[in-house]
Amino acid sequence: MDKYGKFDDKAREYVIKEHFTPLPWINFLTNDNFTAIISQAGGGCAFYREASTGRLTKYNQTRAIPVDRPGYYLYIRESDGKVWSPTYEPVRAKLSGWKCRHGLGYTTYHAQHRKLNAELTYFVPRNDDALLWNMKLTNNRDTAVDLTSFAFVEFSFLLAIREPQYWQWCRFYTSTTFDKSLDAVKYDYHVYEDQPKLKIYLTSSLPVSGFDCDRNSFLGRGGTLDMPAAVKEGKLACKELPGGGFPIAALENKIHLEPGQTIEFTVNLCCSLSWEKSAGIVKKYKDNAVVQDELAKVKNYWADYLDVYQADLPDKDFQRMVNIWNPYNCSIAFNRKKSMTGMTTGMEKGGVQSRDSSQDSMSLISLRTDLAKERMEIIYRYQMPSGEYYSSFDPDHGKPSDFYAVRSDNGVWPVYTTYDYVAETGDISFLEKKIPYWQGEDVSIVEHMVQGLKHIASKRGKNNLPLIIEIDWNDNLYIFHEDGKEESVMLAQQLVYACRLLKEMALKVNRGEIVKWCDGLIEEMTRNLNTDGVWDGEWYKRYIYSSNKPALGSKDRREAKIFINTQSWAVISDTAVPASRAQMCMEQAHKRCGTKFGLKLCSPPFTGIPEPEDPLYNNGPGIRENGGVFNHAHTWAVMAETILRRGDKAYELYRQVLPNVSSRERGEDVYVNEPYAFSSTSVVDPDPREGEGDMAWFSGTVTWMYLVGTQYILGIRPELDGLLIDPCIPSTWGKFTVKREFRGVIYTIKVKNPNHVSTGIKSIKVDGVKIEGNVLPESKDKKEVVVDVVMG
Ligand code: GLC
Repeated sequence: MDKYGKFDDKAREYVIKEHFTPLPWINFLTNDNFTAIISQAGGGCAFYREASTGRLTKYNQTRAIPVDRPGYYLYIRESDGKVWSPTYEPVRAKLSGWKCRHGLGYTTYHAQHRKLNAELTYFVPRNDDALLWNMKLTNNRDTAVDLTSFAFVEFSFLLAIREPQYWQWCRFYTSTTFDKSLDAVKYDYHVYEDQPKLKIYLTSSLPVSGFDCDRNSFLGRGGTLDMPAAVKEGKLACKELPGGGFPIAALENKIHLEPGQTIEFTVNLCCSLSWEKSAGIVKKYKDNAVVQDELAKVKNYWADYLDVYQADLPDKDFQRMVNIWNPYNCSIAFNRKKSMTGMTTGMEKGGVQSRDSSQDSMSLISLRTDLAKERMEIIYRYQMPSGEYYSSFDPDHGKPSDFYAVRSDNGVWPVYTTYDYVAETGDISFLEKKIPYWQGEDVSIVEHMVQGLKHIASKRGKNNLPLIIEIDWNDNLYIFHEDGKEESVMLAQQLVYACRLLKEMALKVNRGEIVKWCDGLIEEMTRNLNTDGVWDGEWYKRYIYSSNKPALGSKDRREAKIFINTQSWAVISDTAVPASRAQMCMEQAHKRCGTKFGLKLCSPPFTGIPEPEDPLYNNGPGIRENGGVFNHAHTWAVMAETILRRGDKAYELYRQVLPNVSSRERGEDVYVNEPYAFSSTSVVDPDPREGEGDMAWFSGTVTWMYLVGTQYILGIRPELDGLLIDPCIPSTWGKFTVKREFRGVIYTIKVKNPNHVSTGIKSIKVDGVKIEGNVLPESKDKKEVVVDVVMG
């Protein structure tokens, strides 16, 4: 427990005390336009907008090299030739004290070396595209010291794939020189490709006494980052590379410190699309007071962001995640989409993936309503007049991408997100806002939603359920395709759920014909979903062939007899008939897919011995979609359990995938990922790496854990008519409090649970006055309201 670090909840930081964690444990420093990922070892890489096309610096973080390198390094050289780094890496000189504090929007290293104290904070200001490294160095010795500090970064070629592919040519498209008037290394990559032409500088607020642009001269013959020849020597070569080479920026600063004296300076890696603008950023941050001011703004930004929802809960693990790290992770996932982490290359083309982004927006609706709304409008612009959505597109260049398969579920997600947006804001007029189809006419958002669902409903198979086309939510199901006539049970359930929400919205804008259409489809699909072709006796099948071959997710199979999604979604969509099927199928999901690490996506996994006609399921057994715990899907089981009113079960499942709990209970060396960011999956039996988390930071898990935690377990959920209070909590809890902003009013909701029930409400008082029902009435004049809830 706490082997590598621990949470400091008051400071909203995770404090790492060991130089090397099982994997790089990173933080995201970002203003949503410019991002630097940074690990506990000072490793990381900075990029402008997308990690795939705007990469400023090099980074190699694969598992082949468990220590991520390079990063944003400072070498401190003392007059006796001893060299150390406040990040420990890359020098690895013994330090008498060291900590790395990952905070919200910044990372600080505290290091002591022979009574020299360093406090080095990295952050990205809100409005400038720069990574600032602010250093405060104090001399606690009895004697004066003379030091040389060397700042170092290694440049990349913007288009990330160019680096492994074509570095031999790309290096000659670069020009790295020193600008005397700015005291800055200037890096220009001038290739004619469709990517931002960034103008990059590295500078320091102290006078620069030497520089280097050439990696070879900096490292020296046979040299490594641990001890570059120039650092050992104490002098940089002042070599420029106007015609290309291996581009780096190294800056030398001379420092003299009297006993007790502290010096502050700032290194600045910045970029923009013009030299003039970049030069402006260089000059601005020569002033340390400005740097401190901007750091305060970053801290304030995150404090305001979290203020929207704060809970006081009996379970401090839950509280920590819901108040701090889950919303933080939501913002990172929303803004950086499928980008780069300490464990993903970030070379995949970025842009927006329609369905993933739609889901990422769901949690942002309460936290940053403006951004979520903007994203939704963009997604609708990439819907075709047929109702189908482009699965992926690049709004920066205004075009769809063609590298993703048809995802037949694209049309359901925007309905869920739009409902949440309208419920949060009460802005019914959004439904009538006109947005053009991709190369088509302007239609209202309601029309967009209807068209999307009609498209799904129009293509059916033998049980009259929607076809899976290429893939539905489950990416890897495509490998089972035979004739393109396979049906998706999950999609049918999701379609019904979407119709239920759409119907509510259509009622608000008096669209009777849409209400009727929704009612008809709900009724028809519910019937179709409960025929013997779809219900397998104890649970719902998943993927039904047009031939007589046994469906995936049915008893007749040796492998993949059951999938959890069609059980959870049967409950969420309220399509189980008779109603007893809802409980029964969830029981089976627990019995057959339950593990101490969460629910397996399907069970038993494909083992690599295919049935004669079956392909392999990409991943090995127990990994990701092949019977691994897929947290994103697991969250829907949590939601389903709250709908079944089983608070203890929902809570048990919820805790299973909390990263802070997983890391502690499984052990940090087993879980391996950051304890403060959600993993997308866990490896389970039969793989020996059981309990290992994979792919942190970017997963539908992030947004859905926030939703199920805040809205379904704590049960404070926006609906079209107001804020619903409907907790479904563990029966052990005696009370909890939530402070939440809703439609411009701050609600402090104090829930008491004297009889230790999981769900059910005895009374609600709003500012002392009892109300009927459990939807809070709109507060007309007050900006702050206290709500007292008694469960029972
Ligand atoms: C990945 C994809 C997501 C998909 C899921 C399951 O997370 O980004 O779109 O639904 O895997 O296949």
